[in-house]
Amino acid sequence: MSENKKDSERVDLNDPKLTRFDIYKEALRKDDIEILHYEPRFPTPGTKEEKRMERIVAMMFVLAGLFALGFVAVMAFWPWEYPGEVTGWDAWFKWQTPMLGITLGLSLAFFGIGILTWAKKLLPVEEFVQDRHDGGSSMEDRKLAEATIYNMTEDIGLKRRPLLKKAFLFGAAPLGLAAVAPLGGLIKDPGDSLTKTGFHPDHNDGQPVRLMNMDGSQLRPDMVSVGGQVTAFPAIPGGATNKYANSSTLLIHLRDDDAAELRENLYPMYRDADAVWGNFVAYSKICTHVGCPASLYEQHTHRLLCPCHQSQFNVVDNAAPVFGPAARHLPMLPISVDEEGYFYATQDYLIPVGPAYWNRPSLPEEVEE
Ligand code: FES
Repeated sequence: MSENKKDSERVDLNDPKLTRFDIYKEALRKDDIEILHYEPRFPTPGTKEEKRMERIVAMMFVLAGLFALGFVAVMAFWPWEYPGEVTGWDAWFKWQTPMLGITLGLSLAFFGIGILTWAKKLLPVEEFVQDRHDGGSSMEDRKLAEATIYNMTEDIGLKRRPLLKKAFLFGAAPLGLAAVAPLGGLIKDPGDSLTKTGFHPDHNDGQPVRLMNMDGSQLRPDMVSVGGQVTAFPAIPGGATNKYANSSTLLIHLRDDDAAELRENLYPMYRDADAVWGNFVAYSKICTHVGCPASLYEQHTHRLLCPCHQSQFNVVDNAAPVFGPAARHLPMLPISVDEEGYFYATQDYLIPVGPAYWNRPSLPEEVEE
């Protein structure tokens, strides 16, 4: 649009005869926006068809609100804890995550469809062109922008469509609740679940816990060849299931010289606890970076590699991190062999297993003994 044309069309904003739509048009003109086509969707307000459209949009918002409430209800009441056995009603816990996804997905879908239908079927048909320009906004521009926003609010018709207003609020409020409901998971005190594993005697009526294979067979020294390794779990009910996912342990049979080197390097806390039995050592498999299973043991370099981000731990130096993003040692599980010849944990891990967080010690020497 040329400057001359703009000047000729310029209006006095203080003219009391100006309607809000006139000011709105002026605001657009100021921004070099020209209205090519503007037509109310329903020129005669309150027609049967308009009411029908309103009801459809309102229904979408109501459904959005109901599904959002369903999401909150699933979050609060649906069983989610792994019960140790997967039978009958216990299997309901499997559906918690899908139900969260379904309810939230449907809520967002209905809310989106409601907004789209509102825009497509109730808002005026508009067509604009705009020349782009640089620069900030003057006070005058701000006043014009204000009028624009008021005009849009009027176009949306919240004032004269109380049904839609209520339905919109009914849909939006539970959606807001659904957004904050997951924070409820932070309310419950995790207790000692972050520091106690399945090897704690509390899980075995106060008795030391043996080490077992995935198939439940209890581990003896002759089951791991020199230089070999085996993944061990606490020999308690459900010990090899996700319920004790923090307990998976790598039992390594070191060569003589590697075992001697480890004994020389042992931190006092591990030495005092007789944590190494013969040439066997047991480390947590849970990588201290973000928790992947670190189980690629290369006996020639005596390094344990985590495949996720390539952290490496020196097995003959208390599993100190020597490469990659992990910053904490892999915790060592004190082990011994009982009179029946089976490995058992003499006590639980001396430092917490898993990734670091703000109040976890990074090195065994930082642990108060
Ligand atoms: S989880 Fe092991 S290196 Fe990242």
